[in-house]
Amino acid sequence: MCGIVGIVGTGAVSERMVDALKRLEYRGYDSAGIAVIENGSIVRRRAQGKLDNLREVLASSPVDGTTGIAHTRWATHGVPNEANAHPHIADNVAVVHNGIIENFAELRAELAHEPDGFESDTDTEVVAKLLAKYRREGMAPRDAVLAMLKKVTGAFALVILFQDRPETLYVARFGPPLAVGFGHGEMYVGSDAIALAPFADGIAYLEDGDMAIVDRDGVEFCDFDGNALSRPRQPLQLASMMIDKGNHRHFMEKEIFDQPEVVSHTFGHYCDFAHGRIAVNGDEIDFSRVSRLAIAACGTAYLSGLIGKYWIERFARLPVEIDVASEFRYREMPLSPDELALFISQSGETADTLASLRYCKQNGLKTGALVNVTGSTIAREADAVFPILAGPEISVASTKAFTCQLALMASLALRAGRERGTLPVEEEKTLVHQLSEVPRLMNHVLHTVQPQIEKLARDLSRFNHVLYLGRGTSYPLALEGALKLKEITYIHAEGYAAGELKHGPIALIDENMPVIVIAPYDRFFEKTVSNMQEVAARDGRIIFITDERGAAASKLETMQTIVLPDMPEFIAPMIFALPIQLLAYHTAVFMGTDADQPRNLAKAVTVE
Ligand code: G6P
Repeated sequence: MCGIVGIVGTGAVSERMVDALKRLEYRGYDSAGIAVIENGSIVRRRAQGKLDNLREVLASSPVDGTTGIAHTRWATHGVPNEANAHPHIADNVAVVHNGIIENFAELRAELAHEPDGFESDTDTEVVAKLLAKYRREGMAPRDAVLAMLKKVTGAFALVILFQDRPETLYVARFGPPLAVGFGHGEMYVGSDAIALAPFADGIAYLEDGDMAIVDRDGVEFCDFDGNALSRPRQPLQLASMMIDKGNHRHFMEKEIFDQPEVVSHTFGHYCDFAHGRIAVNGDEIDFSRVSRLAIAACGTAYLSGLIGKYWIERFARLPVEIDVASEFRYREMPLSPDELALFISQSGETADTLASLRYCKQNGLKTGALVNVTGSTIAREADAVFPILAGPEISVASTKAFTCQLALMASLALRAGRERGTLPVEEEKTLVHQLSEVPRLMNHVLHTVQPQIEKLARDLSRFNHVLYLGRGTSYPLALEGALKLKEITYIHAEGYAAGELKHGPIALIDENMPVIVIAPYDRFFEKTVSNMQEVAARDGRIIFITDERGAAASKLETMQTIVLPDMPEFIAPMIFALPIQLLAYHTAVFMGTDADQPRNLAKAVTVE
């Protein structure tokens, strides 16, 4: 989604703003632009496509100014071309925006007779036009912003620069995140802490319904009625924000290889390995009093929740309802206050997940957030926060956040089991010991299967369609495998519960349909092998991802068999996630697609 940066600086800002936008690239975008005050006038440079294009524009036509705003745009209203790129300017005001102005058509009709007409197809331009109109009518900048905020509806993070206030930024938030950064004699605004990390040593987050006026002396917060507010300044942990690919070609590759380490941090936080006990704190939540658990999330986070459902129902005998958040928020599910709701989100900002959280709070449920970004809106609004501790995830396709979400879900399932009296102490000990093996097994798998998967990726890249099958916790993994592959290679892929094969997808099987079967040697193995036989009988090409016992037990001919070490059933999803991530990654590399920033996708989806 769109990225926003603003600087009220002491020296030239244009290059620093583009550097900061670079750190927001991971959010996904298709055009970019900046505006600065140069010799008392607003000047703007914009370019379609990647930031390198904007850098080229700036190289041939530089701008010089100490206050500026900058933006990477992920198109919602209007195609991704230069005219639709932000900042949008009307008269003497420039605006950058993340989100959607829902009543823009109505406002555009109302403003149709404003001077110069509209130059873009965006919803954002109405904000600039409204502000320009209010200023012409004699309003001071602050009043004009407050009046504009009363007129617009929807979701927005806005940063506004007025030509006659060359050292001030006016910012507002309702929905998408926005933070103010504190520097030495300089102030900043940005979509997230990652953008501001190299400059700022402190940060304060705007809440929904906050406006802020930022100048070199600091920041003043108020609500949309102009009443003063205070927002805490927090230290910015620079070291943890330093983002770098190391020796890897892509962030995705780095993040896949980071998993043994980050997952061990997650377990270190939630498990007491010395005593064989789960150590998940959070008194706000008491699983023994809960009648049902609701989970809502989107994308990969949803699939980690689906695996969590299997674990929680099995170990804690607690019924779990799980939905994608875009359905959850509207399907008017009956809820009662003795239920608990969990929300899983890497970014902690996904609009549908946040709306689902608010729906549950309105219905009196206790809420828990499983997030990577602990300063995020979802984390701030939930009753209990469980950080997944994956560290910054830059690649749009989620990898290490997924396995850290699984690590946390596994820990929560065992805590729930203990609290509900369904998990005897000895069994908890055994399972906690199994969790302690995960980082080692991950490391082993990452360093053994890579060459084989690189070769397989070449073969897979020749096909247009791929099917993934799995049973039990391997079913959500099949969905995740298909999602990963289609996200970054654009090969059409579908995941199915292996038992569903006969109810439709089998009609698709022929020699042009590779079928990736995820089958550790577990309770379901024999049944999955029967489904594989059905595929083989129809000339389907089988790619079999299994363990040593599974490989020994199956006699079927496959296009390729990837053999992982034997492991207990409980922890298998965390380990089997790795070959499916690597397969998607290497296929993308081989096909030459952008593994880190796939087309049309965004990292944090802050609009519906
Ligand atoms: C986007 C990303 C996915 C992610 C999903 C949910 O679609 O591309 O990788 O899984 O959003 O994001 P969240 O931040 O809520 O986990």
